[in-house]
This record gives sequence, C-alpha cells and structure tokens, in this order.
Amino acid sequence: MQILFENASLFRAEPDRPVVEPRMSVLVSAKGRIEWVGDQGRVPRELLAEHEQLDLDGKLLTPGLIECHTHLVWGGSREKEFVRRLGGATYEELLLAGGGIHQTVADTRAASSGALFEAAIPRLEAFRQQGVTTLEVKSGYGLTFDDELRMLEVIRDFDEKTTLDVIPTLLAAHAVPVEFKDDRTAYLDMVCGRLIPEVAKRRLAVAVDAFCDTGGFSLAETRRVFEAAKAAGLPVRVHAEQLTRTGAAKLAAEFSAFSADHLEHLDAEGIAAMREAGTVAVLLPYANLSLKSRIPPVKALRDAKVPVAISTDCNPGSSHTTNLHLMIALACHLYGMTPGEALLGVTAHAARALGLEARIGRIAPGLDADLCVWDCNTLGAIPYNFGSNLILHAWKRGRPAL
Ligand code: NIG
Ligand code: FE
Repeated sequence: MQILFENASLFRAEPDRPVVEPRMSVLVSAKGRIEWVGDQGRVPRELLAEHEQLDLDGKLLTPGLIECHTHLVWGGSREKEFVRRLGGATYEELLLAGGGIHQTVADTRAASSGALFEAAIPRLEAFRQQGVTTLEVKSGYGLTFDDELRMLEVIRDFDEKTTLDVIPTLLAAHAVPVEFKDDRTAYLDMVCGRLIPEVAKRRLAVAVDAFCDTGGFSLAETRRVFEAAKAAGLPVRVHAEQLTRTGAAKLAAEFSAFSADHLEHLDAEGIAAMREAGTVAVLLPYANLSLKSRIPPVKALRDAKVPVAISTDCNPGSSHTTNLHLMIALACHLYGMTPGEALLGVTAHAARALGLEARIGRIAPGLDADLCVWDCNTLGAIPYNFGSNLILHAWKRGRPAL
C-alpha cells in the first residue's frame, strides 16, 4: 500500500537549500520509494492508489538519519584509559605505549563472535531509536586475517537481523598489531596481499578505510593500502589529519576517496584537493572534545563547498557515544554550523560519504522512502534540545522501522 504524508514541515535535505517547508505532502510508493513531493493537497489524483494517509499536523519530516562512521563492534572497555585521559594523559601516549586501540584489539580477539554481536546490539538499538536508518560499521579491532573477517561477519549479521541497513567497512589498517611492531611490512603484506582481496571476493565490505597518523600508518603505507583496495575494486576512506598533519586528505582525494574523516589538521592544499575530487569531510565532534584537539577548518570547508558530514565515531576510545542528535548540537556549538548544515551532515552528505547518494539521504522522487518524523516543527529545535531524542517514528524503504 502507498503512504501519503500530509501537512508535514518538510526538510528535503537538498544541499543547496537546507530549509524547512511548511504544509507539504510526500507520497511513498507501495515499493517503498518516494513517489512525489509537493504542496499540501496537490498530489496528482492519477498517482494515488490504495493508500494509508498520515496527517503529521505540522511535525518535522526528514530523511532517515545516516550514521556514516562508527566502530560499533568491540570487546572490553576503555573506561580506565578514559579516566587517565581526564587526568591529563594523551591519546597518542597511551596508543604508542601499547594501550588505546591495542587494548581493544586484545579484548576483541578474546571475545567470541556471539559476545561481540550481543555487546553491539544495544548500541545499534540506540541508533535505531534516534531515527538512524543506515549505519556504517568498521572492522579494525581484529587485526589478523581471521579476526578482521570475523568482525565483518558479525557486521553482516546485524544487516540481516535488523531493520536498518548496515554498511560494512574494512579497517584492517587501523594500527599495526603489537606482534608485528618490528615488521610492519609483513602486516601490510597480509592486509594488501590476502585480506583485501578476500574481503572483496566475499563482498564483506563495501569500502576500505585506514588510520593515517601517529600510532597508525604512514602516508606511504596508506598509499599501499589504497592501491590494494583499488586493485580489488573497493573505494577508499581515511582517518586523516587527526593528531598530526600528514597529507592523508590529499592522498585520499588522489584516490577519489568517498570521505576523509576527522581533519583537525587539514590545510588549504588538502581542502582544494578534496573539493576537486568530491571527497566528503566527515567531522566527529565528540572525538574533538574528548581528545581536546583543535577544531577542523569548518569555515574554509564551507567556503570551498566541500560537503561536510557529521558522525558520532562511536568507539570505545576517542568517542564513546551513540548519541547522533548530540553530535548535531555539537556541530552547531563547536563548528558554528547552522542547524540546516548539521542536518545535511547526517542525511545527504552522510549518504555521499558512503557513496549512496543516488539511493538515500534526501526526500526526492525515486529515492528510498527512509523517513523520520520528529516531535517539533523546526530544525533549530534539534540542537536546542541538546542531545534529547525528539524522534517519534521512522520508516525504512516505506516500512515502519521504529
Ligand atoms: O576514529 N583514531 C583512530 N580510530 C578511532 C579511535 C579508535 C579507538 O581509539 O579505539 C577514531 O577516533
Ligand atoms: Fe573513527
């Protein structure tokens, strides 16, 4: 059956016009696609078949939210490290001393797939409750051939068992595991020579990510990972310019990366390269706050018209949160983004960061009917209610998802 939404305050998430339009109608086809969008009461008769009519009474209707950067699956907890960081220890220090990511790798390897799955479900559920209809999840805490595949299989199981679409990314180049610390090349040989081709063959990930920074991989090593991804037909993304300036954003642009993420130390050259390549800037406000890092160059990104996405970076170390609505508010506070820009960051621009902009992220004819209804009628109400969940209902491809 079709669904006809009436009397919506509509945010279509059109990047060049991030506004709310009052008194709008949206028709969803029986197949779960957006069929028509227009003024209240103007839906062409000939398009209407048997349908359910929902009067939104002026409530805000937006695309389903897209969370484009998470490390949702992990074993253990880094609470102790968090408290040490509150006391002044730095993320880099802990990582270089074999803690940080390495701690989570040890705990993740020790956990069964079932335990990893169960531990992640409440996080996934928290996103679903916030109107998230597409969720990206990275591997990166296995760091062996078998454990990375095992993480990706857990991620595949989420996709099969939940109403959201779960988008898997291979992040084997997250850190050099401790057992390879004296032979980094041997680890990269495994990742590039065996793991990436296997993941591509089994379609266990749709993109390859890398952490190019102190404690992660050098620019030359990241290039090697990107070459292997390209050879396997997988697009790339990168954790770039977070702790230091490495030139990773420019490298990402050279490989037409979907996104470069973090970007606290991004420079003008990196911005120009990203603009040329159409690479999305994914900004992660709680990682900024929790690592006390500098603020990425948001104004320069805006001036250069580089699309900016916003995400939780949900992970046990630098950003232990599942609250995407709070990230919208932080994007306004920390980055000076408007509510409209911040909402684009979790809809149209987040879709681009996943290479899915032809299917999701906007309310336009032909796209999937991934939709949210909010208990408000303006975008400003979302950051104003700092971190509160105003979502009332959500649909995934026209089916109730909340
Ligand atoms: O996006 N910096 C690298 N990766 C993650 C953190 C992972 C962790 O600390 O466990 C990030 O911030
Ligand atoms: Fe991350």
